[in-house]
Formats: sequence, structure tokens, C-alpha cells
Amino acid sequence: MQLRQHLDIPNTLALRSTADYGCEAYSSADVADAQAYAQAHQLAFVPLGEGSNVVLHARVRSFVCLLRSAGIEVLQETAEHVTIRVAAGENWHQFVLHCLRQGWYGLENLTLIPGSVGAAPVQNIGAYGVEIAQFIEAVEVLHPQGEVVALNAAQCRFGYRDSVFKHQPGYTILNVTLRLNKQDAPVFDYPELQAALAEQTEVAAQHVADAVIRIRQRKLPAPEEHPNVGSFFKNPVVSQAQADELNVRIDDLQTYPMEAGSGRVKLSAAQLIDRAGWKEKPGNHVSCWSSQPLVLVNTGGASDVEVFTFAAAIADDIYRRYGVQLELEPSELS
Ligand code: EPU
Repeated sequence: MQLRQHLDIPNTLALRSTADYGCEAYSSADVADAQAYAQAHQLAFVPLGEGSNVVLHARVRSFVCLLRSAGIEVLQETAEHVTIRVAAGENWHQFVLHCLRQGWYGLENLTLIPGSVGAAPVQNIGAYGVEIAQFIEAVEVLHPQGEVVALNAAQCRFGYRDSVFKHQPGYTILNVTLRLNKQDAPVFDYPELQAALAEQTEVAAQHVADAVIRIRQRKLPAPEEHPNVGSFFKNPVVSQAQADELNVRIDDLQTYPMEAGSGRVKLSAAQLIDRAGWKEKPGNHVSCWSSQPLVLVNTGGASDVEVFTFAAAIADDIYRRYGVQLELEPSELS
């Protein structure tokens, strides 16, 4: 482990941010050394992947450990399934493409999501009708006490954009074990995906991957060109009664069902932000992306304060208009 002072933290929102201390970790042993160093010096220990789902303050008073481990290992293979163990530092999108080339299916709906494999379970990445939770066998973590433990899927307590890792920041994800299908049986009932594949007589996983890539490229800004961290807020979950009341005030109110019998529904944060007119109201060096206003874009040299001020103005306005509280989707790090 090579210790660094004043580590510039790479992040896809292109915010300038420096950690007091940090390092790059290429192995589990590096991570353990880094954690021990941070503990010995009473520093908070923060593991990070590619910085694609985090909003950073200008100064981070922590020890930031950038996970750069690599490796994809087959643990078990049958005619139906393959179980693979993937290092946290692998790039998620490259990993999904690798799986498709190998004939390992299931992750095709999750193509082109920025970030690393180790970050994916933290927010239970999901898109176009599929979540990573459906494929997770185990997540191997480093405990604050220094031992390595494998959590099974139930212990990860996955929910919509949620997991135990959001509430138990002391766990550092080292490896992720996934069970994928050998049968090509794509899922494409998400309306936008279904529409994109309507002409296709037979749909294979590769078609789904291609369609998801096309949709994302059309709708979402590429972070290299327009720095962003994807959806800035979660889609809010409200009671059916509140949704019924909003339905009277908002034309064509978009709702997504939650578990049957829960009495709750998910709204589209993008729709609320759009209807409140925020596409036409940029902040200082930050604005909503025109084809997906849930994504905030750094339009050039934005500071952390400018981003947080703009996000707070949107959230306050949505609360005043609709009584709906928007919650930040990425993690905040100071
Ligand atoms: N919409 C508008 N105005 C617009 C654009 C969209 O009102 O200008 C509304 C429309 O009603 C549209 C709806 O937004 O039907 C849904 O848009 P989209 O399909 O992009 O889905 P989303 O709910 O906004 C979620 C995830 C995305 C994920 C997509 C596809 C969250 C917070 N976001 O967005 O994830 O790619 O579904 O599954 O759940 C991310 O987390 O960073 C992310 C991009």
C-alpha cells in the first residue's frame, strides 16, 4: 500500500475534491493494510471505486481507499448456471460485456452503468427491470475488525437502491459472487425496452444489451463529456392515498407498483422535476439534463456548494408543490 497525502479523488461529477489521506488498493491485503493504517491514525476509512455515485465535498477528512483490484474467477459451472467471483475494482460495464461474450446471461439490462463491481451492490444497481440483487450469491467484505466475511444475499438486505452497505459503512466490499444463467432468456418488459425491441421477432440477451446501450446513450449524458453521477434523487415512494391526490393535480401521473399489498407506490422523480419546470432553470455551473432531468450535470467547473445548493432548491420546490420529499440517490462524502 502506497500512502498518499492530499489525494485528489477521481469522480464522474468532476468536482474538485481532496482527501487528507488515501491510497490505491490492488489486493485484499492492500485494503486491510490501508484500513489498519486509518484506524491507527484515528481516520475514518472510506473505500471508493470510480467515484460515479458519490457527491464529494471539496475537502474529505478521511482516509480514502481507491479499489483497483482485478480478476474474474469461475467457481462453479453446470449446464444451467455459472457462479463467478469478481474483484471489487473491475469496471462494471466491461464486466457485463465479458459475461455476454462468455455466454453468461442476466446482466444485459445493466449495461453501460458507470462505476465498479464493488460499488454495484451498495446501491443495488438496477435498470430496465433488473437489479443486481437477483444474481448475488455472496458479497465478501472486510470487517472493521480486520476479518474477511462473506454475506449471503439475505444478509445484504437489498431494497430499491438500498442495501446493508449503505447503513453499515464499516464494511469494505472486496469481491462479489454472482450466479448467472447459461440460458439466454432475456427480460424486456420495461416499457421503453419493450418498445425498442418491438420489431425484433426473436429477442436474445445481446439484443437487450444493444437496446439498453442505445436508450442510455440517447437519454443519459456520458460522464466524460457532461460530468454527472446518474440519477441525483431516488424515485420517491408514497402512499396510494397521496398518489391518488397527486393524480388529480398532475396530468398523466407516472406510478410504478411496489410489492402487492404494501399500499405504497413509487413516483417518477424525473416527472415531478420536469413538471416543476427545472429543465429551464439552470443553477450556477450545474443544470438538469434535458432528456432526463433526474440527472444533474456539471456544466463547467461547478463547486460542491453550487451542486448542493441547486439540488436543495429542487428538493425544496418539489416538497412545497407536491408534498413529496426527494432523497439524494448518490452518497455524500465530506
Ligand atoms: N420523464 C419526464 N421528463 C423527461 C424525462 C423523463 O417526465 O424529460 C419521466 C417520464 O415519465 C418517464 C419517466 O421519467 O417515463 C421514467 O424515466 P426513466 O425510464 O429514465 O426512469 P427513471 O425512473 O427516471 C430509473 C433509474 C435509472 C434507470 C432507469 C431505467 C432511479 C433513481 N433511476 O430512472 O437509474 O436507468 O430507471 O431503469 O431509480 C441511476 O440510478 O443513476 C439511473 C440512471
